[in-house]
Amino acid sequence: MAKNDDKPFILGLGGTTNPFSSTEQALAIALKTAADAGAETELFGSAKLCALPHYRSDPAGLNETGKALVEAVRRADGIILASPGYHGTISGLVKNAVDYIEETAGDERVYLDGLPVGLIVTAYGWQATGSTLAAMRSIVHALRGWPTPLGVGINASGGIFKDGVCADEAVNEQLRLVAQQVMRGSHRRQYLTQ
Ligand SMILES: Cc1cc2nc3c(=O)[nH]c(=O)nc-3n(C[C@H](O)[C@H](O)[C@H](O)COP(=O)(O)O)c2cc1C
Repeated sequence: MAKNDDKPFILGLGGTTNPFSSTEQALAIALKTAADAGAETELFGSAKLCALPHYRSDPAGLNETGKALVEAVRRADGIILASPGYHGTISGLVKNAVDYIEETAGDERVYLDGLPVGLIVTAYGWQATGSTLAAMRSIVHALRGWPTPLGVGINASGGIFKDGVCADEAVNEQLRLVAQQVMRGSHRRQYLTQ
């Protein structure tokens, strides 16, 4: 799909194998804030993550979902990355998608160079939210991206997400804030590269 140059393109990447994933629902709420603020957005969520083979497992190359992910990363002016905390860190499913960013190693814009990246973590307690956010910040740094100041840690054990709605207003506010920070970063990036 051609890029609409008038709007920043914000890619949301995240979810779990759960078809009612709270991680994906949190990501969708944040993306909506970006869309409401004028962004073009794309949600690369649970279903697409599950359609990605292990990165570099097929000698024939990337499948269509993998190619679409890499193209979306190339077009992105900002990214929101959402993972559950699994055993205190990023899930294998989400990390596998992140591994696909290696395809951009030879690009003029390498990896996530200069991109604002907002981070969201869900877990069934608080401890894993902190350690998973720290791991994700390290990953974004390794990919030359700029983690936004706010990373959102969500204790989703109480079932606060249902039908795309979050019942906890404090969480909604954090999701809005992280999206706003990605939007601000994307505009700043356009200004700096002019
Ligand atoms: C393999 C696995 C490991 C997990 N490890 C942790 C953990 O270390 N700490 C924690 O609080 N929750 C842990 N959980 C709970 C997940 O964080 C929780 O299932 C997830 O946030 C729910 O997201 P979803 O609704 O998007 O599937 C784990 C769940 C699974 C399946």
